[in-house]
Amino acid sequence: MFNEFKLAAGTPVYLQVKNYILWLITKGALQEGERLPSTRELAGLLGVSRGSVITAYESLQDEGFVHAVTGRGNFVAGISGTGGAALEPWHMDWSERMNHQARIAVELDHMKRKQPVLSAEREIISFTSIAPDEQLFDLDNVKRAFLDRMAVEGRVLLNYGYARGYKPLINYLMKYMERKGVNLAGKEMLITSGFTEGLDILLSSLRGVEGAESVAGSIRVLCENPTHHTAIKNLRRHGFAITGIPMQADGLDLEALEQALQEQTYDCAYLVPSYHNPTGIVTSAEKRLALLQLLGRYHVPVIEDGFNEELRYSGAHVAPLIAMAGHGNGVVYLGSFSKVLFPGIRIGWVLADRELIDVLESVKRARSIHTSTLDQSLLYQYLHNGHLEKYVKKARTEYKRKYELARACCEEFVPDARLAGNGGLHLFLEFRDDFDTWELLEACAAQGVIFTPGDMFFIDGGGRHTLRLGISRVKDEDITKGIRLIGKTAAKLLANKPSGGTPMY
Ligand SMILES: Cc1ncc(COP(=O)(O)O)c(C=O)c1O
Repeated sequence: MFNEFKLAAGTPVYLQVKNYILWLITKGALQEGERLPSTRELAGLLGVSRGSVITAYESLQDEGFVHAVTGRGNFVAGISGTGGAALEPWHMDWSERMNHQARIAVELDHMKRKQPVLSAEREIISFTSIAPDEQLFDLDNVKRAFLDRMAVEGRVLLNYGYARGYKPLINYLMKYMERKGVNLAGKEMLITSGFTEGLDILLSSLRGVEGAESVAGSIRVLCENPTHHTAIKNLRRHGFAITGIPMQADGLDLEALEQALQEQTYDCAYLVPSYHNPTGIVTSAEKRLALLQLLGRYHVPVIEDGFNEELRYSGAHVAPLIAMAGHGNGVVYLGSFSKVLFPGIRIGWVLADRELIDVLESVKRARSIHTSTLDQSLLYQYLHNGHLEKYVKKARTEYKRKYELARACCEEFVPDARLAGNGGLHLFLEFRDDFDTWELLEACAAQGVIFTPGDMFFIDGGGRHTLRLGISRVKDEDITKGIRLIGKTAAKLLANKPSGGTPMY
C-alpha cells in the first residue's frame, strides 16, 4: 500500500496526501478501525515532509474520517451511511424516464450527430464554427476590468445577486438600446445567461392565444426558414408548432407571411432581422416596417433576435424591430454579445414590456436565481471602461476582411452554388435542389475539409442542398484552400448528375 501516490505540481502537498488517504478509505483499502502509519513513517513512504502529513491527518480528523487516540496514533473512522447492511444496488432505465423536452433536445443535438470520420494525421480545415476568433480578444482589458470591479465591490459580487440582473449593467444596456433608437417607455430589462436562456425563459412562459398551455403543437410560431438551429430546438422542446416562411434576398417573403397569417392564428413570431443565421441576410428597413405592420394587424407578437447587429460590414445602420415599434409593446428583444464580444461570459438580455419582464423575472428566479454576478459585473466594467467600441471596430475590420476573402473564394471556386446574405461570421451556399451537401461533406472530409450541412437549419426537413461556412476562426490560407477544395469536389459530384432545380434566394 501507499505506493501509488504521485505528487502533482500546483496543489498543496498536504491536500494531495489527505486526498490520497481519503481515496484509500473510500475504496476500502483502509478499513474502519485500522491504524494509520505514524506521521514520520507515512512521510517516509510518500516522500513528503512530516509537516504535510501532520496537516493532512488534522484535516482528516476535522472532517471526521480519522480519529486520534492519545498515545496510540490515528485510526480510520467509520463512514456513516456506508458499510452497514449490504444494499442490493438497483438500476434504472433512464431512457424510459425522459420526457418529450429531453427527447427533442437529444434528437436535435447536432453536436452529437455523427460526423464523417476524419483522418487523424491530416490537419483539418473546419468551417463548422461561428464562434468569435479568440485571437482577437483583448485579454488585458478584460483582466483589468475584472480587477477593477473586484477592487470596488468584490465581496458583494461573490454573494447572491438579483434575479433581474446586475443594476449597473442593466442601466448601461438600457442606454445602449436607447441609442439604437428604442423607445424605453414602459419597457424593462432582464439579464439572462446568453440569448439562449432568454429565449428558453420566454418560451417556457408563453401560452397560446386560444388558451393552449403545453400540449405539443398547440402553440404556433412563425419564423424565417431556414433559421437558428438552437431556436428551432427550443421551440420544439416547448411544444411549439413551427411554420417556416421562405426568405428572399432582403428578408422574409411577405406574401408567404400574409398567406400563413390568413390560414390560421399564430401566437408569436421568432425573427433574426440582422445577419441572420444561417443565411447572413439583413432584412431591409422597408421589409422590417412592412412585416411589423402585418404582424401587428394579426396581433402576433415578435421575438426579435438581435445577436449579430453590431457586425455590420457595409451599408447604413438598420434599426432593430423593437425600435421601429416605437412605444408599442409587441416586440420582445433578445440581445447577446456572444458574437460581438465573448460567448464564454454567458450574458444576454431581454428588453420588453414591463409587465412581461416582471413575470420573466420570477421565472428566472425560480430556474436559476440569477445569472453570475461576476460575469455581469466583469462585462459591465469592460463596457464602462469604453472598450466595446474599440474592440468592435477591430473585430469588424478583421471579420469583414475574412468575409470578403471567403466571398471572393466562393465566387471563384464554387460557381455552382449561389451565395446568400450580406455579412456575419458565416456564408451560406445553395446548390441545385437535387444536390446533397451531406454527400459533399463526406467527400470533403475525406480530404480534410468540413462544414455544416444546411438541413439542420430548416423547419420542414428541406435544405439538404445548402451548407454554412463558418469563417471566423479559419486562417486566410485555409479559407482559400478549403473553399477551393469544396468547389472542386462539388463540381465533380455535380458532373455525375443531370441538370437540376432552382435556387431559393
Ligand atoms: C441566431 C443566433 N442568435 C443568438 C446567438 C447567441 O446565443 P448565446 O447568446 O446564447 O450565445 C447565436 C449564436 O450562434 C445565433 O446564431
